[in-house]
Amino acid sequence: MNIGFLASHNGSNMQAVVDACKMAALDGVPAVVVSNNARSKVLERAKTEGIPGYHLSSVTHPDVQALDRAIADVMKKHAVDVILLAGYTKRLGPETIAEFEGRILNIHPALLPKFAGKGMYGMSVHDAVIASGDTESGVTVHVVDTEYDSGPIVAESRVSVKPTDTPQALAERVLAREHEFVPQVLQRIATGEIELRKPLEP
Ligand code: GRF
Repeated sequence: MNIGFLASHNGSNMQAVVDACKMAALDGVPAVVVSNNARSKVLERAKTEGIPGYHLSSVTHPDVQALDRAIADVMKKHAVDVILLAGYTKRLGPETIAEFEGRILNIHPALLPKFAGKGMYGMSVHDAVIASGDTESGVTVHVVDTEYDSGPIVAESRVSVKPTDTPQALAERVLAREHEFVPQVLQRIATGEIELRKPLEP
C-alpha cells in the first residue's frame, strides 16, 4: 500500500506512519510527501527519510485548477493507493478528490461529528472540547469529501478529558494517541480488515 501524505506544518503523524512502516508494524510504503508550505518541518522530515517531497501551493500554481491537477498528478506519479491528510490546512480540489475518491483520509483531533467544520482545527478544537465540559475526546480518521470534516468515519479512538486539563494538555494527549492510532488504522486498511469504498458506490 503506497501512502501519499499531504501536510502543512510539523508532520509528526507522517513521521509516526513512516516509523511504523520502518518497524514493519505497517505494511505500507511512504511514497510521497506534498506540502503547501515550502519551509515546513514535514518536508524536512521527508528529505531526512529519503521520501520524495514536493512543495505545491498557490505560490507554485497560482491557478487553483492547475494546483489541483498538479497534486493529483504527483500522487498518481508515485502510484499512491491511499492519501493521508496529516495536518493539511488547505481544501482539496475536485480533481484530486475524484481521482482518489474514497481513498483520501483525514485525521481530526476530536470525536466527529462534534467539534467539526470551518475554523475547527488546531487548538480551537481542544478549546471547544474543554469549554463543552465533555469528559471524552479522541481521534477520528475519516474519508475526505468536498466539505470540511464531513466524510464517512473510518475509525475513532477515545481519549479521556481530565477535569484539570488545559486545552494544551488535552492536545498533547490526543496527538500522542494519533501517533499510535493512525498507523494501526492504516494497517487495518492494508490487511483488508477495513475496506475503503467510494462513498457513492452501492
Ligand atoms: C493533528 O493534530 C491532526 O489531528 C490535525 O493536524 C495535526 C497535525 O499534526 N489534522 P502533525 O503535523 O502531524 O504534527
